[in-house]
Amino acid sequence: MPEPMSEDGLTDVVVARLEATPDPRLREIVQSLVRHLHAFAKEVRLTDDEWLAGIQFLTATGQMCDETRQEFILLSDTLGFSSLIDLINHSDVEALATEPTILGPFYVPDSPERGFGESMVEYDDGGETAVFRGVVTDTEGNPLEGALLDVWQNAATGFYAVQQPGVQPATNLRGRYRTDANGRYEIRTVRPVPYPIPADGPVGRLLRETGRHEWRAAHIHVKASKPGYEPVTSHVFDRESRYLDSDTVFGVKDSLIEDFVPGPDGVLVCEHAIALARSDG
Ligand code: BEZ
Ligand code: FE
Repeated sequence: MPEPMSEDGLTDVVVARLEATPDPRLREIVQSLVRHLHAFAKEVRLTDDEWLAGIQFLTATGQMCDETRQEFILLSDTLGFSSLIDLINHSDVEALATEPTILGPFYVPDSPERGFGESMVEYDDGGETAVFRGVVTDTEGNPLEGALLDVWQNAATGFYAVQQPGVQPATNLRGRYRTDANGRYEIRTVRPVPYPIPADGPVGRLLRETGRHEWRAAHIHVKASKPGYEPVTSHVFDRESRYLDSDTVFGVKDSLIEDFVPGPDGVLVCEHAIALARSDG
């Protein structure tokens, strides 16, 4: 006869049942997950209806996912979980390396290779022309020639090309650039604008029900890499943007905020230095 279960006794029984998990890392993760999940339900005294609402929310989140929409990542992003994972895994790089931030759902691999100073604007929607440029160095300030910058951003309408097939050309506002012999890069583009994350699904509903907005501060995404160095996935934020202090996915870091200022010809310039840490291997 099984013993009558108590709240705490049940948690211990489930954790003990998982003791047979052959993979030790999987055992550690699932046992810890059970402990935290049980503790959460006990802390808030979760009711039957609330449990069911949670199941229905997660079901709707899965049903919202397809080839181009990943509602679970959006959920992770808006709960600060993606940024937490980023901090756990990438805070130990040398202090002088460029800080990472989340990848987001709109990265598309194999962007066109573009030359130094070339524009990545393939569709004119009235965006404000800007030059995004700077130097890529190691953490001692030595310029890195031939570093790869994979860059993507939204248009003046707020949308990424991947969100508007048939409207924007597929490669609009994205490109791969290389640094020159002085470690410099230069990209002609448009000033990014704040935009709402996709909010027509369960994650948007949760944001509204918790009194939050769905906006991201204006940014350009950059993945920088060079063999022998730790790659970094990061952003550059516009200092004049709204939402820097309330970015809905918690992606803003002070060191990634830059000015967009008019150059001698009146065109906006955003200068951003990137530093890569040498990799161990
Ligand atoms: C983005 O920056 O592209 C992004 C990040 C998280 C959620 C939605 C969009
Ligand atoms: Fe973005």
